[in-house]
Amino acid sequence: MAEVTGSSEPRCSVYIAASVDGFIARADGDISWLHREEYAKGGVPGLGWEEYISNVDALVMGRQTFDKVRTFGTWPYEGTPVVVLSRRGVDIPPELKGSVSVDAGEPRQIVERQHALGRHHLYIDGGATIQAFLADGCLDELIITRIPVLLGGGIPLFGPLDQDIHLQLTGIDAAPNGFVQERYRVG
Ligand SMILES: NC(=O)c1ccc[n+]([C@@H]2O[C@H](COP(=O)([O-])OP(=O)(O)OC[C@H]3O[C@@H](n4cnc5c(N)ncnc54)[C@H](OP(=O)(O)O)[C@@H]3O)[C@@H](O)[C@H]2O)c1
Repeated sequence: MAEVTGSSEPRCSVYIAASVDGFIARADGDISWLHREEYAKGGVPGLGWEEYISNVDALVMGRQTFDKVRTFGTWPYEGTPVVVLSRRGVDIPPELKGSVSVDAGEPRQIVERQHALGRHHLYIDGGATIQAFLADGCLDELIITRIPVLLGGGIPLFGPLDQDIHLQLTGIDAAPNGFVQERYRVG
């Protein structure tokens, strides 16, 4: 069973879907490949979204991901504080001003600021953002749902590293639609 624990220690996790060749979106940001009709049958194996998000204190996402989510029409993170990372600044629409804030800085500083606000478990989202948190030693858990497709290119989940990062496999589940959820502890 997937690990979901409540704790007041700072903790950052990733819950993301990626192609088997490691991309989270096409180069133009398209994610429609995640929503093929036949995928609806099996669902996501392992730790479900509802259970995961109910244990998250805040979601930290890159500006590119925020821009994409804004195109969905409905805001999918009702009830969860969201921090958008941007150095250039982002316009937050009035209806989201109560739940969405903007921050910038090194991942470690962002984790500390959220921790001081009583937000201990952070959900980190967006490829460049995840890579920055990994490089800064701030990620504790990776929950990756592999979608059975090869895209050949696009926005990568992971990128270059200064040194190897060892992972401990904590769980793996497959669904009949070919989705495979891998869960890793970092370090
Ligand atoms: N498959 C999935 O489950 C999944 C999940 C999430 C996202 N996605 C897709 O992934 C794509 C976005 O990923 P991405 O790698 O392009 O970008 P991203 O991580 O969402 O956003 C990158 C941007 O975030 C800001 N940023 C990152 N770290 C920062 C820091 N420490 N301090 C200040 N600002 C920081 C910068 O914005 P500024 O330029 O404003 O400074 C940077 O350009 C979208 O297409 C989205 O749909 C897919």
